Amino acid sequence: MFSDLFRNQKKIPFSTFVNHALYSPNGYYSRGSRISKSGDFITSPIISKIYSQAVASSLIDEFYSSSDNKILIEGKINLVELGSNDGTLMMHMVDYFSKRPEIYNKLNIIMVEKSLKLHRKILKNLHSHRDKLLVTDCLSKISAVSEKAIIFCNEFFDALSFERCLVKNKKLYQVNLKLENNRLTESIDLAPPKLAQKFQTYNLKCKEDAFFEFPIIEYELYFELLAKKFKKIFFLINDYGDRSDFFQNSQDPFGTSRCFYQHKVTRNFYENVFYQDITYDVNFNLLSLVAEKFGFKEVGFSSQTKWMLNNRVVNSPAIKKFIEDQPARAGFSKLIHPNSMGERFKFISFKL
Ligand SMILES: C[S@@+](CC[C@H](N)C(=O)[O-])C[C@H]1O[C@@H](n2cnc3c(N)ncnc32)[C@H](O)[C@@H]1O
Repeated sequence: MFSDLFRNQKKIPFSTFVNHALYSPNGYYSRGSRISKSGDFITSPIISKIYSQAVASSLIDEFYSSSDNKILIEGKINLVELGSNDGTLMMHMVDYFSKRPEIYNKLNIIMVEKSLKLHRKILKNLHSHRDKLLVTDCLSKISAVSEKAIIFCNEFFDALSFERCLVKNKKLYQVNLKLENNRLTESIDLAPPKLAQKFQTYNLKCKEDAFFEFPIIEYELYFELLAKKFKKIFFLINDYGDRSDFFQNSQDPFGTSRCFYQHKVTRNFYENVFYQDITYDVNFNLLSLVAEKFGFKEVGFSSQTKWMLNNRVVNSPAIKKFIEDQPARAGFSKLIHPNSMGERFKFISFKL
């Protein structure tokens, strides 16, 4: 299961293990989707289509809110989703847009999903929009029809690979893995110079002897790629986590990295490999610093509760009627209740 990983080396960084566990040919996401009630965890677009409609309506409001944004919708619009999984979010969003022909007719839909196995599901879910649909496994493969893009993602950044780091005596260390008697064991070693240099560049505070997740290589990769692909961007991101002035994003000295397996949360990274998700909380301050480095400006930040309660669709009579029904109300409540997903999840937006 792991011998390929150690063919030319005795130790690998934690990030290489995460990539292997999630995205190698047998990896968790490469095997298909386990996002459902009967799977390992559930996400907002699966919980209620109100979520997708709220995202779509917020984008429409964004288009019309300032003269600067109007430029975005002149001519063709690239509507890009990162980490689409089976396409549920985009499907409900485009159904919503289809009621506004002046927007729908301009859309060029681009879905970036790394797991090739999910592409068939995406194509099926968006079959009725196939004349304007492009599905790809890699952002770098997009050939844009226009220089402008509206980009969004739900739980994309928390699914990227990351290092687990800590600082001791002002020096940066990272978790590496060794294979001993067919078992993975952790060792804590000085971080390589490239990572140490990135740690210095992003000027956040850092506690000593407390683990934190450092997905910096991946964050930089995606913001840099997006800025190269498009000249004008509105980027809406929804994910779990918090803002922190520290690299540490929680009080827990172990950090926030964890696994999801059959709706249970564990820290058994090396069990159920390929059958469980591995994730961490996004530090939105770090995300924003990376965005800024590549020319993006943060233009919005709020908890999911606040964002949803301020949303036009959520306050519409149609939704008020929709949630009179008990299952619909339960889904809606899960999205917005502060003790459920409402305060755990944040919306952040950027402009380029
Ligand atoms: C946690 S899931 C979220 C799925 C979906 N957005 C939702 O909210 O239900 C993360 C998704 O991102 C995809 N993914 C991860 N890294 C990716 C990358 N670099 N490019 C495209 N998709 C990626 C995974 O395969 C997975 O489908």
